[in-house]
Amino acid sequence: MDTATLQLFERHYAAQPSQYAFAPGRIEFIGNHTDYNGGLVMGAAVTEGITVGVSLRDDAVIRIVSETGDLVELPLGSYKPVEGAASWTNYPIGVTKVMSDMGMVMPTGYNMAVTSTLPTGAGMSSSAAFELATAKALAALYSFETDTAGYARIGRKAENEFVGMPCGILDQGVSAFGKAEHLVKIDCATESFATEPMPHGAHFWIFNSNKKHALVDSAYADRHAECHQALAQLQSDHPSAQTLSQISPEQLKASKDVLEPLLYQRAAHIVGENARVRAVEAALAVGDLEAVGQALSASHESSRVNFENSIEELDTLVELLKLQPSVYGARLTGGGFGGAVMALTSADFGQAQANVIAAAYQAKHGLQASIFHTRAGDGAKLL
Ligand code: GLA
Repeated sequence: MDTATLQLFERHYAAQPSQYAFAPGRIEFIGNHTDYNGGLVMGAAVTEGITVGVSLRDDAVIRIVSETGDLVELPLGSYKPVEGAASWTNYPIGVTKVMSDMGMVMPTGYNMAVTSTLPTGAGMSSSAAFELATAKALAALYSFETDTAGYARIGRKAENEFVGMPCGILDQGVSAFGKAEHLVKIDCATESFATEPMPHGAHFWIFNSNKKHALVDSAYADRHAECHQALAQLQSDHPSAQTLSQISPEQLKASKDVLEPLLYQRAAHIVGENARVRAVEAALAVGDLEAVGQALSASHESSRVNFENSIEELDTLVELLKLQPSVYGARLTGGGFGGAVMALTSADFGQAQANVIAAAYQAKHGLQASIFHTRAGDGAKLL
């Protein structure tokens, strides 16, 4: 049970919820934009996330209230994405639609209250957390069954088809499969999920740039389209390749001439990221955090130069972090074009170092970064 959600629910519905579910946000550890390119990615669920409380109503209405007091009511079965102030409800309503399309029987509507410990816009995927918490809670409420991968796919389908964001399975997969003190590895070609222990003595710090980028969604969609154009051009040399991730670094180099220069850069990022995920896996296996950190920083450099999904503010944070001896590596985490940087650090990195970085960042960009020292936490669950 979760006190904040209980109080919100009781205040609005004068009753207690019958089910609660929590789902975490995520850090993208390494593997940037590889997910929708059939590649490899590693992430970690964080301990912060979204909690929903739900109960059945006795009429054909759905009501959702957030902790900021926004309340939305709609008729059961009438699911259309909305724009503007109520667009936050697209996540739970998208999930409701996907699950009912999959055969979840909903004789009556539901009341929902939602609370969050996750900052929005921080690149930690509060949207996937909301989708996964909703899916878990509704499954319990309406006796719908699926497995962990099934929950991740429900969330992604809601995001792709209802919210209209062409994301891969990273955010929802990590939110579903997260495990305390573990990383989640996803092979997006086969959609297989595995966890492996976080190396001893490794810490995550998140620096949210708090730089708002108005066009994040369209920039993401542009990159998605460019990756598919790059693949189409590469197929003249490699007709059997179904995804960019099936192209090796050597093949890409040899085919440089068939690609427009911009598309070559985009493909180089994806192909390079897959190689860096493999390098990180190998370094983790022998506990070599220095090598892990180098791959993380190389990933950021490729984002900056090849994929152009970094921004000056994120580059500043990465550069400042890399100056600290207790930082193994740092990179933007998530889609980019704003959001957050994550740093992999030793236990010696503390609030004092974080404050130094925040002060230098503020001096340069006039923005206050929000800082979290977070741990790898558990995946979506009923409470
Ligand atoms: C966002 C998307 C993910 C993934 C990352 C970039 O977080 O939701 O599916 O593509 O960007 O790796």
